[in-house]
Amino acid sequence: MMYNNIFDTHAHYDDERFSEDSEELLSSLEYKGITGVISCGVNAESSKANLRLAEKYPFIYAAVGYHGLNTEDLTDDYIEFLKDLIKNEKVVAIGEIGLDYHYEKETRDIQLKIFREQIELANEYDLPVIVHDREAHEDTLNILKELKPKGVIHCFTGSVEMAKEIVKIGMYIGLGGAVTFKNAVKPVEVAKFVPADRLLVETDCPYMTPVPHRGKRNDSSLIPYTAEKIAEVRGVTAQEILDLTAENARELFCISNKC
Ligand code: NI
Repeated sequence: MMYNNIFDTHAHYDDERFSEDSEELLSSLEYKGITGVISCGVNAESSKANLRLAEKYPFIYAAVGYHGLNTEDLTDDYIEFLKDLIKNEKVVAIGEIGLDYHYEKETRDIQLKIFREQIELANEYDLPVIVHDREAHEDTLNILKELKPKGVIHCFTGSVEMAKEIVKIGMYIGLGGAVTFKNAVKPVEVAKFVPADRLLVETDCPYMTPVPHRGKRNDSSLIPYTAEKIAEVRGVTAQEILDLTAENARELFCISNKC
């Protein structure tokens, strides 16, 4: 399979699992049809690391922010720190931010606080947000309905009903390797429902590796497996999915004068 115009809207190329061959891997991506990647920070250190990658590789863009579970290097003036980073034109979004209720219940207050504050920051600068929502659908939806940011729910795990609400706010739905998993029900229903102009594809690499490579490290060159599955349920070609999601990504993240 040879595809082009692949836009991976959610990666973590600063992850230590890429440290050994980062240079080799990232330089090879353009020859594998990848035209764009958003590499996302989860705290101060990784936001800076992803920005360095974005400055080095023309097709990589950075998202900066604090994930709800990654508050270890959070400071009182973290919003000022983020304002400083977003002066750089390779920063195209605030993310990865959001709520994760799978782990420690006692962190919910701080998770909710920084989620709201970072959405307000994004709104102030007219930037999209990249939202993580794990087992926190209700709070996520309520906050998004209230603050109405531009952006995407990445690795969407909610129901079609929730997807409808997200689309109504004007936000995008990011789908990744989970649609290829054998037990996938909801992601497949969502893949069928999402309006063409609200769909994005992503890896969340090094995690969420699509079938048939589950268990191995993920990277942007494996997106075609996800696109093929989405294409199958929508009755179109995988290249059509790649083209429309790349177009949507450029629009949302304001890349190549698409906005
Ligand atoms: Ni992620």
